[in-house]
Amino acid sequence: MSQPQANPSPSSAELGSSAIGVIGTGAMAEAMIAGLLRQGLLSRPQVVCSHPRAERARELEERLGVTVLADNLEVARKADILILAVKPQVLPRVLRQLAGSVPAETLVISIVGGAGTAALAAGLGHRAIVRAMPNTPAQIGEGVTVWFATAAVTPAAKGQVSALLSALGTQLEVEDERQVAMATAVSGTGPTYAFLFAESLVEAAVHLGFPRHLARRLVLETLRGSIAFAIQSGEHPAQLRDMVTSPGGTSAEALAALERGRFRTVVSDAVWAAFRRTLQLEAALDESGANSAPADTTPSA
Ligand SMILES: NC(=O)c1ccc[n+]([C@@H]2O[C@H](COP(=O)([O-])OP(=O)(O)OC[C@H]3O[C@@H](n4cnc5c(N)ncnc54)[C@H](OP(=O)(O)O)[C@@H]3O)[C@@H](O)[C@H]2O)c1
Repeated sequence: MSQPQANPSPSSAELGSSAIGVIGTGAMAEAMIAGLLRQGLLSRPQVVCSHPRAERARELEERLGVTVLADNLEVARKADILILAVKPQVLPRVLRQLAGSVPAETLVISIVGGAGTAALAAGLGHRAIVRAMPNTPAQIGEGVTVWFATAAVTPAAKGQVSALLSALGTQLEVEDERQVAMATAVSGTGPTYAFLFAESLVEAAVHLGFPRHLARRLVLETLRGSIAFAIQSGEHPAQLRDMVTSPGGTSAEALAALERGRFRTVVSDAVWAAFRRTLQLEAALDESGANSAPADTTPSA
């Protein structure tokens, strides 16, 4: 995996006056557009979205001030960069609708869970494709997105991808598409693990006798502070854990209990289970040539 790309200061020059088309303008796509507009990386007239529901279209126009059309095909034909952000179940239908109609020079960026570039390329009849896997904190600009570009994506287009995905937080390009599937199990599904751990700690604090509001505050601030400390110090988590584990102390006692409960093994099993599931769903989409609906692989679902 390469280092994060110039994430803190993406430049509007990367995107220039490119027309950005968005198909599947739900939670993720809205977060992306809002972030790009907020950071001044795009101007409103550059963005054209589609949505099949008039009510949602009006909501998007009001909230974002961008053009929203009812027709996916019209958006695909207008876009220099086309973002696909529909749910996996809807993807085969959208691919059939767009097949052969995306101009060859258009860059397609898909954030659809479980959709490999081979299936997307075959479904669209198109070569320049980026497959990206964001995660839920992207909705507040604090996500991490792992992305892979096909050989037809030029270096200049990759600069545009970096700028676009920076609106969601940190972004990392990988050379091996399998790492996008691996990231689905680690960072894509990661918030689920983090939320379950936080929930367990809140419940334990309540069990000890803390009022719920205090338990929640204590846990979230502890996790936030610990992660900020880990990032700032640059130390391996094991080193930081060692620093707070005095011989015969409370941390040592707590760690022994976690090891008895096979904490690390269970975490590892969960990550492998999510990875195997991602591969199964990808294979289903590939085999069907994107002609049948895969199950939803949205990590947070
Ligand atoms: N959320 C995450 O944390 C996350 C993380 C990684 C990847 N992803 C991927 O990102 C994609 C979008 O996720 P999301 O959470 O943003 O889902 P979402 O909120 O459901 O967004 C999808 C949008 O597409 C619309 N839509 C349905 N049929 C359509 C059609 N035929 N043409 C155009 N638009 C259509 C939906 O409309 P309705 O509201 O009417 O259904 C909805 O607004 C998914 O593929 C998911 O796997 C999400």
